[in-house]
Amino acid sequence: MLDRRSLIGAGAMLAASAAIAGCATAQSPPALSTVYTPKPLPFDPKAIPGLSEKLLVSHHDNNYAGAAKRFGDIEAQLRQTDFATAPGFLINGLKREELIALNSMILHEVYFAGLGKGGSKPGADLARQLEADFGSHDRWRAEFTGIGKALGGGSGWVLLTWSPRAGRLINQWSSDHTLTAADGAVLLALDMYEHAYHMDFGAKVGDYVNAYMGALDWAAADKAFSSRLKA
Ligand SMILES: [Fe+2]
Repeated sequence: MLDRRSLIGAGAMLAASAAIAGCATAQSPPALSTVYTPKPLPFDPKAIPGLSEKLLVSHHDNNYAGAAKRFGDIEAQLRQTDFATAPGFLINGLKREELIALNSMILHEVYFAGLGKGGSKPGADLARQLEADFGSHDRWRAEFTGIGKALGGGSGWVLLTWSPRAGRLINQWSSDHTLTAADGAVLLALDMYEHAYHMDFGAKVGDYVNAYMGALDWAAADKAFSSRLKA
């Protein structure tokens, strides 16, 4: 079933077909979608405790890969759009949908990278920073988990984000793919869209959040954190 955002996107696409003026430049730069290509799952989907193979494969193949395909399709439309003559609603619609598809893809990659067999702990640097910014690891975990459960019944993301300006970590609430901190580097992402849990957990959102926390793997967050600190 199409949701409201999909309908808006579909409307923009139809309008785009009418407004595209065949104005691609003679020397078009390489498409971004050749860089943002979908990756396979970074783990064996049979080996994640608490989340089924069926759920993880569906999430990857339909939602993540779907966002990547959508991004490519929207970019192709934008590359042929005459921005000087196209109506504002058309440009707004396409650019908004482009950003949603791109961020959906990126955040799903962080989400999948944060899943493993469980029992993982952050490395020494990230553990020190979590303690400095939240008082203790347990306090960080309680905040992150609580935000996820609070999003139950709605949808969105819970993000552990590094803020270069503040020089600290933030547990960030996000109700949409477009609402990540503008200067932030996302270290962990908890997907709170229904497609991330409904197949396994139905409406028991809290059980899904607990399963995610139980399967959390810190290796990718450690890597992202140390590269940001050195940047
Ligand atoms: Fe998702």
